[in-house]
Amino acid sequence: MASVPSLASDVQQRLANALTAALPDAGSADPLLRRSDRADFQANGILALAKKLKGNPRELATRVVDAIGANDVLKEIEVSGPGFLNITLTDRAIISTLAARAADDRLGVPFDEHPGTTVIDYAQPNVAKEMHVGHLRSAVIGAAMTEILEFTGEKVIRRHHIGDWGTQFGMLIQYLIEHPHELDHKDGDDVSGEEAMTSLNRLYKASRTLFDSDKEFKARARDRVVALQAGDPETRALWQRFVDESKIYFYSVFDKLDMEIRDPDIVGESGYNDMLDETCRILEESGVAVRSEGALCVFFDDVKGPDGQPTPLIVRKSNGGYGYAATDLSAIRDRVLTLGADTLIYVVDARQSLHFKMVFETARRAGWLKDGVQAVQLAFGTVLGADGKPFKTREGETVRLVDLLDEAVRHATDVVRSKDENRGELSEAEIAERGEQVGIGAIKYADLSTSATRDYRFDLEQMVSLNGDTSVYLQYAYARIQSIKRRAAGTRPQAHPELELAPAERALGLHLDRFAETIAEVAAAYEPHKLAAYLYQLASHLTKFYDQCQVLSEENAPEVVENRLFLIDLTARTLHQGMALLGIRTPERL
Ligand code: ARG
Repeated sequence: MASVPSLASDVQQRLANALTAALPDAGSADPLLRRSDRADFQANGILALAKKLKGNPRELATRVVDAIGANDVLKEIEVSGPGFLNITLTDRAIISTLAARAADDRLGVPFDEHPGTTVIDYAQPNVAKEMHVGHLRSAVIGAAMTEILEFTGEKVIRRHHIGDWGTQFGMLIQYLIEHPHELDHKDGDDVSGEEAMTSLNRLYKASRTLFDSDKEFKARARDRVVALQAGDPETRALWQRFVDESKIYFYSVFDKLDMEIRDPDIVGESGYNDMLDETCRILEESGVAVRSEGALCVFFDDVKGPDGQPTPLIVRKSNGGYGYAATDLSAIRDRVLTLGADTLIYVVDARQSLHFKMVFETARRAGWLKDGVQAVQLAFGTVLGADGKPFKTREGETVRLVDLLDEAVRHATDVVRSKDENRGELSEAEIAERGEQVGIGAIKYADLSTSATRDYRFDLEQMVSLNGDTSVYLQYAYARIQSIKRRAAGTRPQAHPELELAPAERALGLHLDRFAETIAEVAAAYEPHKLAAYLYQLASHLTKFYDQCQVLSEENAPEVVENRLFLIDLTARTLHQGMALLGIRTPERL
C-alpha cells in the first residue's frame, strides 16, 4: 500500500520551490494552483506576491518560470494575462502517475497521518414506530460518511441512537399486560419485518385510543412508566419485547437498503439511563443548569422564544422525568470520556438543530466537550414530494419508507428489463437482482448527490433515468467497461507512458488522478455529495472518451489498445471504490 502524490501536489511543490529560488524574499508563498480550462492547471499566486513585493507580476512570473529546472512532468508553462501561469503537464507524467495508482489496492489514496476517533450517530429510528424518509436520509448519509472516514484510517464507532425510551412505553406495556397476546405470532420463530411492524402499529393505535378515552387506563399507563423507570423486572421484560419486535422490523428495512447495521452498535436512549441522575447532578452542582419553575434548565443568551423570553434546554422536567436532552448529554459523556472520541458527528434532521446547538453548548460549559473535541451536527434537509411540499401520501400521511423502497426497486427492475429486451443477456433472476441494486442505488444516490443541508424532491422517474446525474448512469459506465474488457479477452490493460494522449484521454486521466484529493476533502468537510459529483464527472469524462477514442479498434496500435484498456480499467476501479463508499453496488453486467 503506497500512497501516490497527485499531479496537483507535485506541480504545487515544484512551483513553490521555484518561487523560493527565484524570489528568496518572498518567504513561503502559496502559488495558488487550481484546475483550469485553458491548460491543465493555472497558478494565480504570483499576483498577490507581486503586490506584496511591489514588483511587476509578469516579470516575477517569468523569473519563476526560469527557475523551474528541466523535468519530465511540466511540458509547458506560459505566463499569461497580468501574471498567471498556465501549466500543461506531459502525457508521460499523467500515465506514470496513474500507473502508480493502479499498482495500489487503495488507488494511491493515503491514510490520514493523524487519524482520530469519531463517534457517529446515525440510523436512529424509533421503537414501535414506522420508519419514514427522514430515517432514510440519516441512514444513507451516515453510512456513507462512516465508510469514507474509515477509508481514510479514522477509527469510527457507530451509534444508532434509537428512540427506545419515553412515556409512550407506559401506555404500550400496560396495554400489552391487559391484552397479553397482541404481540404473539403464529410462527414465532420466523416473523417478517412487515409482520412485526403491522402488529406494533395495531398495538400502538389501540393503546393510544384507550389512553385518550379511558381515564383509568391512562392512570395505569402512567404508573407503568414509573415502574419502567424504577426497573421493575416484569415491566422491563415487556419493554424488551417491544424493542426486539421493532428490531426485527428495523433489520428488515436496513437489509432492503443493503446496509449492515450491527447489534452492539445499537445503543438507544435507554442505554444511558444509569447516567441520567449523575448528569443532572453534575450540571446542577457546577451551576451550568439551574432550577426554574421546578425544572432543571440551562439558559443561553442567544436562544429566545417568539415572546422574547429565553428558551432553556430542559434537562429534567418539573415532574422529575428526564427528556431527550438529558439522554443526549449523557451520551456525550459516554462517547467522549469512555469511548475516547475526539469527534462526534450527529446525522440528524436540520429541524433538530436548535436542540443540538444547546446540547453542545451545555456539554462545553460542563467540560465534557473539551478543547480538541469537536461536535458537529451533519444536519440534513427535508425530502419533498413532486409538489415541492414535505413528502406525504395522497391521504396526507407520512410515506412509509418500505413502500418507497419497494416502488424504487419495481421501477428500476422495469428499466433494467427494457434495456435488456433486445440483448436478452440477463436471466429473470439477474434482472431481479439488478433491479434491487439499481433501485436502491438510485435512492441512495439521489440522497447523497445533493448537499445534505438542502431539501430535495423525491422523483423516482428522474432517479432511475439513464442519462443524467444518477447512480444508474454510473452503474452503466462501470458495466460498459467490464463488457469492453470481456471483449478484449486476450489483451491486458497496460500503461504506456511513452504514448501521446488524445485530449479526451488526458482529461479522463487528470480526473482519475484527483480521486485521492477528493476523498480527503470529502472526509474533512463531511460532504459526501462532493464524492458523488466527482464520480459523475468521472463517468462524463468516460462518455467523452468513448466518443473520441475507440478502445478495441483494428486501427489502433497494440500499445494504444493496452493503454486505453488501462485507462478504462482504472476508471472502473475508481468508480467501484467510490460507489462502494457511498453504499452503491456496481454490477458487472447491466
Ligand atoms: N430517534 C430520533 C428521531 O427519529 C433521532 C435521534 C437522533 N440522535 C440523537 N442522538 N438525538 O428523530
